[in-house]
Amino acid sequence: MKILLVGSGGREHALAWKLIRDDPTCEVIAAPGNAGIASVARCVPVRATDLDGLVALAKAEGVAFTVVGPEAPLEAGIVDRFRAAGLPIFGPTAAAARIETSKHFAKSLMLKAGIPTARAETFTEVAAAKAAVRGHSLPVVIKASGIAAGKGVVIAQSIDEADAAIEMMLVEQAFGAAGAEVLVEDFMTGEELSLFALTDGSHLLPFIAAQDHKRIGEGDTGPNTGGMGAYAPVTLATPALMDEVMTRILQPTLAAMREAGCPFTGLLYAGLMLTPEGPKVVEFNCRFGDPETQALLPLMASSLLTPMRAIARGESIAGFLPLAWHDGASVTTVVAAAGYPGSVRSGDPMQLPTDAETHWTFHAGTGRDADGTLVTSGGRVVAVTAIAPTIAAAQRASAEAAAAVRFDGAQFRRDIGWRELARA
Ligand code: GLY
Repeated sequence: MKILLVGSGGREHALAWKLIRDDPTCEVIAAPGNAGIASVARCVPVRATDLDGLVALAKAEGVAFTVVGPEAPLEAGIVDRFRAAGLPIFGPTAAAARIETSKHFAKSLMLKAGIPTARAETFTEVAAAKAAVRGHSLPVVIKASGIAAGKGVVIAQSIDEADAAIEMMLVEQAFGAAGAEVLVEDFMTGEELSLFALTDGSHLLPFIAAQDHKRIGEGDTGPNTGGMGAYAPVTLATPALMDEVMTRILQPTLAAMREAGCPFTGLLYAGLMLTPEGPKVVEFNCRFGDPETQALLPLMASSLLTPMRAIARGESIAGFLPLAWHDGASVTTVVAAAGYPGSVRSGDPMQLPTDAETHWTFHAGTGRDADGTLVTSGGRVVAVTAIAPTIAAAQRASAEAAAAVRFDGAQFRRDIGWRELARA
């Protein structure tokens, strides 16, 4: 069986790795993939947003189904295009992907369906947005409605900061069309959780919860990044909390999506805040998270391939057993290039630790130079996942493996999972 995997990051490397573990006879074709994915899959130089090229590739290769990693092709309508061509594909349509690609759409859906989330209003006019800020207590959150490369959220500590964020988005158009609508939203306090669930549009197969580490510095300090590490499981996600999230958030969200005429199929990622009033949605994503995927998949005992293929074919997952997980803990440490999350240099030669039965390196920003030497090629270079019986042992092993990733200026956090360790 051939599977087409669209994307080129650490998340896609982990997906390819898991699909092949689930069925060692399957062949994964990655478009475009990266230097690490090339060790488990056949990489084909078709860009993730080249929808014509991807349809042609899936047809030419006769793939059984396609898995989409990043949000950009989903927003561009890859699922609609593949379905129209009769090609099975795992992911939401462009209309359903709006749950991530339009914060205005997601917020309206949640508020209408009574799904717990922060109060917010959407504006396209500067004066109205600024007036709304004055009706919120501080800090207040200003968000670009569209996808703004992870930079579209400002937590304003003062009215002046909120006004400046509104002007940056609506007047200076710092995020282009993605910032042409802004949300003015209440600030929520609490710990964040990432919860993924596979869905056929009606039924859900939830994962165990993970926690991301967005800040560059240890102790969650410094600027935001695409994610410097993740761990799972999170003991805050008790069975009672998971039940509450299923019944008050995930199931009503699927029902609201069906009612809106755009059933959501694929992987629904709920970014949750555990507030003093209970779990609330910070945001939804329409795809697997990065780097949570790299932490979660090594703990997954069930096949991922089987439910993914069923969902891609438009079949029900109603009869599937709940996903099973290995005991123990998983910690993923991202190794980033010098200067990240600012501008970084690419092309530095690098060495990696050898994979073992309890730790793996997933490539994100890597490539090969003209001589075939492995080199850095991006901000987040690799993610190293270690699994161990305890979170402390997993953190140690992950940091040790990250220290064995060698390139000029490599930086990583040694404290991934620190909140869980504090609880333990
Ligand atoms: N871990 C955050 C994201 O994937 O958006």
